[in-house]
Amino acid sequence: MVEPEIERTSAVTTFLKFVHLGAIALWSGGLIALPFLFWQRRALESDLDLERLHRVTRLVYVELTSPAAFVAIGSGTALIFLQATFAEWFSLKMVLVGIMSMLHVVAGLVLMQLFLPKGKFNYLSYVALMGAYVVVIAAILWIVLAKPQIDSNQIAANLFEPGGLGRWVRQFFGEIRMPTP
Ligand code: HEM
Repeated sequence: MVEPEIERTSAVTTFLKFVHLGAIALWSGGLIALPFLFWQRRALESDLDLERLHRVTRLVYVELTSPAAFVAIGSGTALIFLQATFAEWFSLKMVLVGIMSMLHVVAGLVLMQLFLPKGKFNYLSYVALMGAYVVVIAAILWIVLAKPQIDSNQIAANLFEPGGLGRWVRQFFGEIRMPTP
């Protein structure tokens, strides 16, 4: 009978994963809520209502979503040293996390102009931003949970070999001179 291999996970890894997943839930939830809050701006006339929406939106962005992003990235970075992350799926996850972080900044930029006298956020912007968040978050979750086998040799031969990235860059950009101090 074939005995399944017992995989021991240290308490630190379990704790960090717990923190990572909690922070991701807050980060993703906050990002998905923000376009909806931005969209509420269109219906408000009175200064009091606008002021209230401004406060709630800032609270969600500044005090909930952004700190959660820091914790998610910090705990994820710590997990890199504890888990086997030298696989192609993890590199793809990092590309998508980069896109998610840039889209996070987009919400901050919208927030900065939204409550100016002429600030607006129309239905198309609402659908586009919300759609982008849902797609990128779903893609990251699928990659992390399915951990698909991707053969990087099909895209760039020997990319994951030591020194492979340098060879690949030289192949595309020619010889690169590094200034020596
Ligand atoms: C810079 C940001 C991030 C880093 C460095 C990072 C790193 C990691 C690492 C090293 C693991 C353990 C991988 C393994 O189980 O072998 C992990 C697990 C996980 N990450 Fe991230 N992560 C980041 C952001 C995110 C984001 C934005 C999401 C989702 C939207 C996410 C979702 C998950 C999930 C669901 C797991 C658990 C996977 C499992 O236990 O099977 N991570 N992360």
